[in-house]
Amino acid sequence: MPGVGISHYEKHVSIEGERPLTWLAPELTFAAFSQTKAQNIRMTAFNFSASMTLASAPTTLTAPSPLATFHSAHYLRHNQRRQEHLATLGLDIAGRNVLEVGAGIGDHTSFFLDRECRVVTSDARPANIEKLRERFAAQKKVSVRQVDLDQPLLSGLGDNEMFDIVYCYGLLYHLGRPAEALQYLAAHCSGILLLELCVSFGDDEAVNLVREPQADPSQAWSGIGCRPTRAWVFSRLRENFKFVYVPRTQPWHEEFPLDWSPTSAASWPAKQLSRAVFVGSRAAIALPSLMDKLVVNHTRC
Ligand SMILES: C[S@@+](CC[C@H](N)C(=O)[O-])C[C@H]1O[C@@H](n2cnc3c(N)ncnc32)[C@H](O)[C@@H]1O
Repeated sequence: MPGVGISHYEKHVSIEGERPLTWLAPELTFAAFSQTKAQNIRMTAFNFSASMTLASAPTTLTAPSPLATFHSAHYLRHNQRRQEHLATLGLDIAGRNVLEVGAGIGDHTSFFLDRECRVVTSDARPANIEKLRERFAAQKKVSVRQVDLDQPLLSGLGDNEMFDIVYCYGLLYHLGRPAEALQYLAAHCSGILLLELCVSFGDDEAVNLVREPQADPSQAWSGIGCRPTRAWVFSRLRENFKFVYVPRTQPWHEEFPLDWSPTSAASWPAKQLSRAVFVGSRAAIALPSLMDKLVVNHTRC
């Protein structure tokens, strides 16, 4: 939201896999953060402290194509494992009105279309939007919008537009303002929010901001993401939904830990992402696949 100060951004910011850096930019406004898209402009606009050198900033010289990124073998497999997991949960999805955010080039959209849903699919990044428009031009049940969840008030959603299902897979951790984004998504959700994201180990509530390479079509459009703990995500969901669940199972993919204990955290490979799935709901859901609290151990689906 233009002009809104972000003193809470004065936190530790790190490049994935590197040690956290302290971001000292108290005068930085969110408008400057989210609206200066070019890397060089962003680095000067941010007025980093002297201890944060430009050499430590992510370089974004060549942009990979959205298709090459999202259709890599890694990505295609990742999609299959997450969606087969979602299908096992037994949620009431067929025929619903769905908002998909951070859709990339729309590889998850057919999950809902094949279940006879109507889908508003969206992304912040123009190159991805272009692909979405190409891909779904002939699909009457799909509408493509540009929705930037880091500045949602400028997005292509109507104020009163409501959706039975909000599908937010692979996006929240690419946002610099995830709490505000969840609030916005909840305001447009009359049924359930399906949320999947990279999280950090730990029992405390921490949002853990990180820098991401903005030129990568799968990363943060603003250049700032986060790796919150599960406790942080669960609490923010509880602020927005009466009922919050986690699946009993995890997808059959190595990025989804089965054990969230400190021992497991200590032995988790440093470069390996760790991910989790959450469901926020307006009504109670009585399904054996869901639990209404965070647990340490899961099984595979
Ligand atoms: C990792 S991809 C996820 C794609 C797909 N949903 C999935 O789970 O595989 C993250 C997507 O979020 C989009 N994104 C990044 N920042 C965003 C923002 N501020 N608002 C909305 N989408 C954003 C990226 O452009 C990218 O398409």
